Formats: sequence, structure tokens, C-alpha cells
Amino acid sequence: MAPENSPKTQSPEAYDQVPYPSRPTALSHPSAIAALGRVFRLQPPPPSQCRVLEIGCASGGNLIPMAQDYPDSQFVGFDLSGQQIARGQRMVDALRLTNLCLFQANILELDNRLGDFDYIICHGVYSWVPSDVQAAILRTGRERLSDNGLMYVSYNTYPGWRMRGVVREMMQYHVAKFASPRDQIDQARNLLAFLGRSADHQSESFGTLLKEEAKLLSRVDDSYLFHEHLEANNTPLYFHEFANRVASSGLGYVGDANLETMVTDDFDESTRATLMSASFLEQEQYMDFLRGRMFRRSLLCHLDAPLNRQIDVRCLVGMHLRIAEAMSHCEDAETGETKFVGESKRLSTNSDVAKCLIQVLVDAFPNWKVTDHLVAEVFQFSSGSVTPDWCLRELARLICRGFIVPRLEPPSFVTKISNCPMTTPLVRWQVRQKQPFVSSRLHESVAVRDDDRYLLSQLDGDTTIEHLRKEAAAASHSNDWLDERLAYFAYHSLLVG
Ligand SMILES: C[S@@+](CC[C@H](N)C(=O)[O-])C[C@H]1O[C@@H](n2cnc3c(N)ncnc32)[C@H](O)[C@@H]1O
Repeated sequence: MAPENSPKTQSPEAYDQVPYPSRPTALSHPSAIAALGRVFRLQPPPPSQCRVLEIGCASGGNLIPMAQDYPDSQFVGFDLSGQQIARGQRMVDALRLTNLCLFQANILELDNRLGDFDYIICHGVYSWVPSDVQAAILRTGRERLSDNGLMYVSYNTYPGWRMRGVVREMMQYHVAKFASPRDQIDQARNLLAFLGRSADHQSESFGTLLKEEAKLLSRVDDSYLFHEHLEANNTPLYFHEFANRVASSGLGYVGDANLETMVTDDFDESTRATLMSASFLEQEQYMDFLRGRMFRRSLLCHLDAPLNRQIDVRCLVGMHLRIAEAMSHCEDAETGETKFVGESKRLSTNSDVAKCLIQVLVDAFPNWKVTDHLVAEVFQFSSGSVTPDWCLRELARLICRGFIVPRLEPPSFVTKISNCPMTTPLVRWQVRQKQPFVSSRLHESVAVRDDDRYLLSQLDGDTTIEHLRKEAAAASHSNDWLDERLAYFAYHSLLVG
């Protein structure tokens, strides 16, 4: 609950005054949700032929790339903030997207002629709205989800937010006497600087908490600081509370959109054994306790959907898989194991076949491999010493541990630079609008530098590399600038031809 002296200016127009930078969210993409649905033996419709609704879509930064990716699917998004919707509509018009409808609405007064949707997305809204709106979000899920549909809802969670909330409440107290969002943001930053400087004088654990939080928040943008920490509504909850609300609203809990968080691999053996003795929902809650979890992305379905969490590895056939991050490998002379090392992940194996399977994906990075092709390559390498089912089981194990990312019908991109490189119309529009980031085919936002903008705007599939090279030289860029920038765009899945 917000403290009594919470800021006075909070109103339904908060997002008109301080718009939210509307960006793609990879785990809310239908290709990601559909893949997890399949893993849990559900039959969500293919992303290329589906209907998607986004609740609280801001200016459509999540929906617009999806609508571009899947021209035969229908997308609908609404938001309370008329200004954000108007901004999104300008982008929809500029890109001539005929399969996306954005409109201003309060979910409490939603027109019931919207129809049904195969995917309903509600990202970054549930914790930031009053309880009647929270109830309306889950009700909309139950009423509007198609029979095989899946809903994605993200929210702030306890116990992690107990700690984060300490600094939020301090900021709320400090900015309460300032009226305008600008003054509140500036004052909040002053307080953070003060806490960061002065927290050393506190007890060790509390001082560390304040300093860490102040450091983290000093790096976030104004919009995030305002909506996450200065707005009156930010009501985190425990996972078990959310699961109860889901059940009483007539929906079923499927699992987490980030599958890796559902496995117990990061705990020691005795902790794992204790966790395994609890029921599925209890296990999820206890893992949140142990991890101090702050945020969740839950997938929901109809109560009577044929959900089964015993993974049938054959569901992976036809899916697209990629290794989660760039990795290099080395041989450990002592153990004889091969180690694959990425920025945040490490993997080792002493099986030649498992090594081949991982290496094929590492070599393809950042691109996808279709499961069937991957299994065929590994089967051939093993000269029949392992079965295709063995490969699928190994892939399922690596997916559950977060080393491999599964998708159903993901948008394609190229990593080899062509003679006439091409990016998407959306990226060309975003750089012309001088946005600080562009939307990639992996449905992520990618930071672009000032000197990238002109180059990206030229990547229309007609302009040749030779021409681009002449222009780069005329603009006094170094000899390798063009190759370097094109490689960066390819690495971040910005090229489609
Ligand atoms: C934190 S923003 C998240 C926006 C977007 N989903 C994203 O992740 O970028 C929350 C959004 O919910 C919208 N919102 C709040 N209450 C709403 C309501 N009652 N009906 C519709 N939208 C609402 C706000 O206007 C705002 O754009």
C-alpha cells in the first residue's frame, strides 16, 4: 500500500504527463509464449495465424513489431493514456499496418464486442493499477481468451520487493510536497544521491541495501523512476496470492514465461530434495523466497485446457532453437570435458555427441536452428550411436536450464551481409524519428548510436554495399566502420536481407 503522504499529482493522466518508453518484450512475443505452451502439451494457435490483444499497450512498442512480423495475424491494443495511443497510431499509419488496431480505453469500460484472442499480453501493468483494474485484467483473460489461448501477465513480487520497497517509500515521502512530475523526479534523484553518499553510516546490511538500490536507480530513466517508484499504485504480491487470484478468476496457472526459473538447478542437492517434496505451486513460492524474487511473468490458460507439465520431448519437433548467448569453448585437460563459456552461462560435457549438439547451436548464434535439422546433423555425427529421442531429451534438458531458447515460428533474419543489405521498415522509421533504440527481429530493443541512424535509414535492400562504402568515406568514417556497423546490426538481428 502507498504511504499516506504519497504524491498528490497521481491521476489517470500520469502516463500522458510522463509517457512510458514503449519497447518490445521478447518473452511476451507469441512465438515465445506458443513454444512454452507446446512444452506444457497445450496447442496454442500458430503465431502466423492468430489474434493478439495487449492490455495497457502504451504506444504499441511491443505490438507494432509483432504486427510487422506476422501480416496474417490480427493485433489489438488499448491503453488508458490517449497521448500514448496517438503516438502509437502515428507509427501504425507511417508503416501502413492494416493488421493492428490501437485505441484509447479504460479496461473497466471495455467494449465486449472485441472478440476472442489466442494470446493476451499484459506486461508491466498488473502491479501498477488499483485492485478493481487488477480484477478486470484477469476477468478479461477468462472472457476473451480463445479455447487454446494463453495469457501473459507480469507483476512485481515479494519477497524481493520488500527490500526494493524500502527506497520507494523513502522517495515517496521525500517528493510528497512537490507537485509536478519533473520536480518529483529531480527530487527523487537528489534523495538517491544523498542515500548513496551517506548510507555508509548505517548498519552494514542496511547501508549496503540503500547503497545498492541508490546505485541501481541512478541508472534508470526518468519514466521508469516515476512510474515504478513515485506513482501511488505499485502493489507487489506473493506468487501464492497471485496464483489464488488466478484460480478464483476461473483461469489456470501454466508456468513461468522464463522456463529456467521453474527448475531447481541453482540450488544444492539437499535444498532441491526439500523443494521437490512440496507441491508444484508451493515449490514455485519457496523458490521465490530463496531467490528473493522481485518480478514474475506468468502464463495462464483456461481451467479446462489439457495442461501437463510432464514434458513430452517430441513437442520440440518443428520448433526453432537458439543458444541463449554467444559462447566460446575450451577443452579442460584435467577432466577431459569440453566447456562452453558465455557472459552469464557455463556448460560442460564429456560426451562427444552432446558437444556436437551444442557446437552446432553455438556456431549458428545468433540465429535459429530448426530442431529437426539439428537432430539430423547430430544423428549423422553420432553414426547412429544415439537416437533422435536422445537428442530431443538433451535439448529439453538444456531448454529447461536456460541454455537453449525455444520459439515457434520466430521472425527470420540474416547474419550474412548481402550486397544490398536491408533492415525492416520499422527500424528505418525508428531511426528517422531519432529514437534511441530500434526493435530487432528477436523482439528486443537495440541501442543505436548517432552515426548508425543514417546508415540504417539507407538499408532498404536497393542500396549497394559499394554505394554505402563511398558514402562512409565521404563522411570521413574509418575504413572498417561500415563492416563493423553492419556486423553489429547482423549480430542484433536487425537485417532481413
Ligand atoms: C508501466 S506502463 C506499461 C506499458 C507497456 N505495457 C510496457 O510494458 O511498455 C502501464 C500502462 O498501463 C496503462 N493503464 C493503466 N491503467 C489502465 C486501465 N485502467 N486501462 C487501460 N490501461 C491502463 C497505463 O496508461 C500505462 O500505459
